[in-house]
Amino acid sequence: MTVLTLNDVSLAYGHRSLMDHVDLRVAAGERICLVGRNGVGKSTLFRLVSGSIQPDDGEIWRKDSLHISYLEQEVPAATSDTIFEVVALGLGDLGRLLTDYHNVSHHVGESDSVSLDTLSSLQQRIDATGGWNINQKVETVLSRLSLPADKRIADCSGGIRRQVMLAQALVSDPDLLLLDEPTNHMDITAINWLEGFLASFQGALMFITHDRTLLKHLATRIIELDRGKLASFPGDYVHYQRKKDELLEIETRANAKFDKTLVAHEAWIRQGIKARRTRNEGRVKTLEAMRRARSQRQVMPGRVSLDVDSSDLSGKRVADLHHVSFRYGDHLVIRDLSTRIMRKDRVGIIGPNGCGKSTLLRLILGEITPDSGRIAMGSRLQIAYFDQQRIRLDANQTVRENVSEGSDHIFVRGRSRRRHIGIARGTIDRFRWHPAVGQPRSDIS
Ligand SMILES: Nc1ncnc2c1ncn2[C@@H]1O[C@H](COP(=O)(O)OP(=O)(O)OP(=O)(O)O)[C@@H](O)[C@H]1O
Ligand SMILES: [Mg+2]
Repeated sequence: MTVLTLNDVSLAYGHRSLMDHVDLRVAAGERICLVGRNGVGKSTLFRLVSGSIQPDDGEIWRKDSLHISYLEQEVPAATSDTIFEVVALGLGDLGRLLTDYHNVSHHVGESDSVSLDTLSSLQQRIDATGGWNINQKVETVLSRLSLPADKRIADCSGGIRRQVMLAQALVSDPDLLLLDEPTNHMDITAINWLEGFLASFQGALMFITHDRTLLKHLATRIIELDRGKLASFPGDYVHYQRKKDELLEIETRANAKFDKTLVAHEAWIRQGIKARRTRNEGRVKTLEAMRRARSQRQVMPGRVSLDVDSSDLSGKRVADLHHVSFRYGDHLVIRDLSTRIMRKDRVGIIGPNGCGKSTLLRLILGEITPDSGRIAMGSRLQIAYFDQQRIRLDANQTVRENVSEGSDHIFVRGRSRRRHIGIARGTIDRFRWHPAVGQPRSDIS
């Protein structure tokens, strides 16, 4: 049974066509993985499917009363809401009622009869809507993901915040679940749990992932967005790769043949008076059409070769941690840690969500200070920090301004260069922040 179709859907931002007459049909119970390069429009396609944005052209049909849940790509911002509140939001009005009940029930006994009265009136309203089962759902999803109901989002790590949003998407038993890079920021336990859960999920699933294991284990069909076109590859990942190579080869051969004919036509038109006398209108028209087609051809974006620039050599020592401890309130995060980081070390920090990995980095950066112990940094260090929440990116500035930090120059291998050198001109507008998106773009990285 079909739950959703896209018919001849097009969408462009500025001159850039992200969807170019795209068709898609989603059947109940399918597990579709959407793949494509960074910035090709995958998240935008999910926004179209969820109805949060509308296409420029074409039609999106959803089955009557189809319930869609959508886990967005970004880590949600810090707010003072509790995990329970955010998860219950996935249930709409009833969720708000359950949140009130949850909060009041925590305070009964502490205060007066007012809360008892409020509690009983809330109980009646929940009774009337048959909401207890649903309350149970919130509790179940929280316990499955081991999320602490009363913790504030602002106090949660990036990985936990994404798990909370996942719980919000799951709690309402959607018919169609959209997951945009669900495993980003999640620890191994959460990923394993998610994989098992999705394998037995009854509704239709569409997911975007760069995690091949998840893709291989879950997808029953792969769809690929590539230069505005959507191609569908039923079957698993191996089958997709084989098919994809074949198609690229066919496309390359067809383009080469086309270009050769075009060159011949161009040479003919330039042959001057003799040719002009004899030239026929049909051939001129063909040439014009070919020129148009060539200029509209969506070319494969080039590859970027990225060089990480090391700063001037300073001493060998980068950081020395002596008996460092750190706590948030009464939660001890780092206990008596001593370690040394030397130049050329590549240190991977692993651990469950919320165990303190980002906190450790912030200690080394000096953004926060240890409760005990000390951290000695090497001399003449230049530190580059790519933070999980990307709060260092100024969403109102262009990519260019963010990279050069507002200056007219950037430093490449220790030499000052005018800033346009590092970034190709044509790419900037594509990455420009747009308020409608609501979050900083990950492709800015
Ligand atoms: N509201 C908007 N206004 C203008 N441009 C936008 C808007 N939303 C997205 N874009 C641009 O459209 C392109 C596609 O963005 P999108 O986020 O859909 O890509 P993506 O395939 O999900 O990329 P990634 O793999 O990095 O997540 C990007 O170039 C982006 O800058
Ligand atoms: Mg995306």
